[in-house]
Amino acid sequence: MSDTLLTQLDAGVFSVTFNRPEKKNAFTHAMYEAATAALLEADRRDDVRVVLLSGAGGAFTAGNDIGDFLEHPPTGEDSAVFRYLRALAGLAKPVLAAVEGAAVGIGTTMLLHCDYVVAGEKARFSMPFVNLGLCAEGASSLLLPRAAGFALASELLLFGDPFDAATALRAGIINKAVPEAQLKDVALERARALAQRPAQALKVTKALIRGPLREQVEAALKREGAEFVQRLASDEAKEAFMSFMSRGRK
Ligand code: COA
Repeated sequence: MSDTLLTQLDAGVFSVTFNRPEKKNAFTHAMYEAATAALLEADRRDDVRVVLLSGAGGAFTAGNDIGDFLEHPPTGEDSAVFRYLRALAGLAKPVLAAVEGAAVGIGTTMLLHCDYVVAGEKARFSMPFVNLGLCAEGASSLLLPRAAGFALASELLLFGDPFDAATALRAGIINKAVPEAQLKDVALERARALAQRPAQALKVTKALIRGPLREQVEAALKREGAEFVQRLASDEAKEAFMSFMSRGRK
């Protein structure tokens, strides 16, 4: 646990909160490290039944911190962002997410690895990878077409435009959209309900749902990761990052 990543265990629900609200919970290298450690801890501990991901201060996460991308770009499979994605994709226990506000980049793609996602009606999702000179990540090139169909998956990944909770529901990224005022309560109620189900039966059933795709997910993470690392070093990406970093100064 660190200041930017909070964890709390209550009644079998292990809450993991992205906590960098002044930057819309954009992920730094250190946050990925802390989040990976938290997920691995959750899978190890017998008193943890389910994991609940959320963001502090009205945003889920604005995705990877763009300054951090410039300063500490991931260079290969062992980089913090890829270790986080592998830990999340490989988690044996159910993962839920409560999404409020912005869910950008990995903030959207990580949801494809969650087992139950509830979002606020005003949540805004996006996967602006192409616009940033990057490419699909988080196994979204594999999982999104399965969840949404090719037409919608291609639209969301190629244009990279923001989309609303109703579209996320249609794309199979989330399970349910609720008014913001109810989000926390609904997510906690669902998490507690799952935490009370027989633990081994839950794990076995999750493995049966996710297991057949496991190798394909790992292969997709590898494929995308290799392209992503190259894209990060491209002129297209550098230009897009510099433009984001200097937008307030124009
Ligand atoms: N990396 C670095 N800083 C980020 C960030 C990111 N991904 N997302 C937000 N921030 C910072 C902003 O620069 C701003 O910092 P400042 O107050 O020091 O100027 C602060 O967080 C608040 O963001 P702001 O843009 O003012 O909030 P908003 O509500 O108007 O917009 C977003 C929220 C998420 C839509 C917008 O910040 C955004 O598009 N961020 C970039 C998302 C992105 O491209 N992520 C990478 C995906 S691979």
